[in-house]
Amino acid sequence: MSAQRHTHILPAIIIAFCAITCSSEDKEPVLKEVFSQHFLIGAALSDDVVKNEQGQDAAIVLRHCNTITAENVMKWVRIHPSWDTYVFEPADRFVAFGQQHNMVIIGHTLVWHDQTDNAAFVDAQGKLLNRDAMLARLKDHISTVVGRYKGKVKGWDVVNEALTDEGPLRTSLWVQTIGEDFVAKAFEYAHEADPDAELYYNDFSLDKPAKRDAAVQLVKDLQTRGLRIDGVGIQGHWGMDYPTTENLEAFITAVGALGVKVLVTEMDVDILPPAWDYQGADINARAELRDELNPYPGGLPDSMQTVLANRYAELFSILVKHSAIVDRVTLWGVTDRTSWLNDWPIIGRTSYPLLFDREYKAKPAFRAVVNTATAGR
Ligand code: G3I
Repeated sequence: MSAQRHTHILPAIIIAFCAITCSSEDKEPVLKEVFSQHFLIGAALSDDVVKNEQGQDAAIVLRHCNTITAENVMKWVRIHPSWDTYVFEPADRFVAFGQQHNMVIIGHTLVWHDQTDNAAFVDAQGKLLNRDAMLARLKDHISTVVGRYKGKVKGWDVVNEALTDEGPLRTSLWVQTIGEDFVAKAFEYAHEADPDAELYYNDFSLDKPAKRDAAVQLVKDLQTRGLRIDGVGIQGHWGMDYPTTENLEAFITAVGALGVKVLVTEMDVDILPPAWDYQGADINARAELRDELNPYPGGLPDSMQTVLANRYAELFSILVKHSAIVDRVTLWGVTDRTSWLNDWPIIGRTSYPLLFDREYKAKPAFRAVVNTATAGR
């Protein structure tokens, strides 16, 4: 065969090769298209994902997501590590990534009892600040951070995890210094800093009736004060048997009745054996590693992939059913490889909570989720 004949055959070989190797991804549905009639769909991004824009995590995000949330870079301890220092570079990078790719950018989070420099609450002598002094610090933080990203960040988790599972507010340093209206003050300052930004309350375990009722009361209190609140974020750190479908629907309906949106802000579904009967996402809860609590270090068996896929389908079916109220679903991470659940509540487990696996491939759960959008059409 002459060299010239080789040259003619080559393009055909390349096309055939592409047809074989590229077809699976090309045919893989695009989540943001699949759910375009239902809700925004996105992921929380670490700084590593943002910095590695050519990487495989970013490729998944760019293909499937129309919204992104800052997993860590906007938390107080990161963006405002000491009282007189702000560090904006990672958050700036996150916002620039979202803007460049026309994504709905969500800021997480302005006020949390955790991940906040404890020195923020005390004076030079280490004494807890009084209400006025602490309000001034809260206002400085919120106006600085929200003001910097005004017109770029679409919505803020203004207050995160202020409620206990039983309902009353945590007796955090926010309550100890300012009082229970620190929530209202945070919403007031956020609205002043960017009147066009959407403002949310965000928490875990909001499916539990006592906590759901407390969140409803919190929203009503803000509404009564004439403050802006656009939605309640239910984090969505869920398991195989919680929330019950009844409780999830009851939460969505209760929030919808207030005239505000439901955001599923931090979705992942844990298929590993529970370390205890705790069902929340308190980052300070910790347990010891034992082999029986880490049963799939080498990969999730097909049978368990199916169990996970079925559970994802069950949860997404409810979100699709209530898509008039549910405005956004954000997965808490991109792939199983870097999920926070590999290190919580036990450090060093091999966890499988997301829709993409450690090799960046869509899991059976991905297909199951896609099917919920088209079921019944
Ligand atoms: O980046 C450092 C790394 O340099 C260092 O070697 C390593 C050693 O521990 O720590 C790394 O930082 C960790 C960071 O995650 C990035 O992986 C922090 O210690 C760790 O505290 C941090 O955990 C985050 C956690 O919030 C606390 O901020 C998780 O990534 C993040 O997924 C998690 O997100 C929270 C939401 O904000 C609120 N709801 C619950 C949710 C899950 O806990």
